[in-house]
Amino acid sequence: MRNFTSRKAAQFSESVIRDMTRQAMRHGAVNLAQGFPDFSAPAEIKRAAQQAIDADVNQYAITWGAKDLREAIVRHARQYQGMVIDPETEITVCCGSTEAMIASLLAIVDAGDEVVIFEPYYENYGPDVILSDATPRFVKLRPPESDGGQWAFDEKELRAAFNAKTKAVIVNTPNNPTGKVFTRAELEFIRDLCVEFDALAITDEIYEHILYDDARHISMATVDGMHDRTITINGMSKTFSVTGWRVGWAIAPAVLTSAIRKVHDFLTVGAAAPLQAAGAVALLLPESYFRGLADGYQKRRDLLVPVLREAGFKAYVPKGAYYVMTDVSAFGYENDLAFAKHLVADVGVATVPGSSFYKDPRDGSQQVRFAFCKKDETLLEAGRRLRNIRELKATGD
Ligand SMILES: Cc1ncc(COP(=O)(O)O)c(C=O)c1O
Repeated sequence: MRNFTSRKAAQFSESVIRDMTRQAMRHGAVNLAQGFPDFSAPAEIKRAAQQAIDADVNQYAITWGAKDLREAIVRHARQYQGMVIDPETEITVCCGSTEAMIASLLAIVDAGDEVVIFEPYYENYGPDVILSDATPRFVKLRPPESDGGQWAFDEKELRAAFNAKTKAVIVNTPNNPTGKVFTRAELEFIRDLCVEFDALAITDEIYEHILYDDARHISMATVDGMHDRTITINGMSKTFSVTGWRVGWAIAPAVLTSAIRKVHDFLTVGAAAPLQAAGAVALLLPESYFRGLADGYQKRRDLLVPVLREAGFKAYVPKGAYYVMTDVSAFGYENDLAFAKHLVADVGVATVPGSSFYKDPRDGSQQVRFAFCKKDETLLEAGRRLRNIRELKATGD
């Protein structure tokens, strides 16, 4: 028989992050790998979903999203980010922001177009550009020297990545895996390049409310000159602790939205109707909910970082999102895969090996990522287990 696997499918492997979750289950490890909460979603939105099912909101919603959800997205984005959006022509509700990203890329990219991606990057962007026939151009974010600092790009390197073939740059802020929150000056620098090279920005803002210390999230679409050049991706997964609901959306100018809607329609038709109804309730929760979300995560961050440091990790303190990227060179392992395997199988803590966030695995070979969207007891148990790393090494295990 011939090989039926397409060239595209052969170019990437299954998600390392999701595989680590399976390994965690196999080894009975504490799962600090995949970014899903192990605590409950807010009662009022669970109730809203149940009520929607009871009220028979059980058939296809409008393919680009139920009207009440689109209207709630508009109100929410105006209140928190100052965005002005037309719910009729500028929103496409999708099956998670994952689908919103791939539908957006499929809607704007032709073979040979280039897409600029900051790395380390959320691993989906790699397969996304392959599936959409884009040529990726990677630009490094480098770790800060000191605790107050943030991962940063070199302006010259970013400029060199743009050219006449550049169709878009993907900006994920707050950022997974680094915890970076892009500053206004950085966004304006990116804006200038988008304008100069006539390119779009696709911004993944799924962690918009998960911010620490003095960090402020700025939506690229609100930066002067970017409204018509930005596709804003967001969703319910992280803000409402419902990663399994698969409700996300893309906000874009009408001409782009009509292309995104067509792709979305034939990819998935639509996201689950009763969960869209619950989304309309969730987005309009009082402001205190969103503040409480950030406060809760700041406490978890402040619990995990010292635990990691005590265990011997060099931990980069995030300003947003719910991950800690670490440097593990002090442990002396050959690479991140060997170290992550030791952690999951012997120590009992699942992490994500750093190489899965880079095009060239060597770039992440001394990094692993921890997710802290977990109960305190989960994080404390991970801390207790992590004390065993060195002992295991000392006995040659
Ligand atoms: C940066 C980023 N974008 C998108 C997603 C996936 O979002 P969704 O559940 O809405 O598909 C994740 C999940 O970890 C993420 O970290």
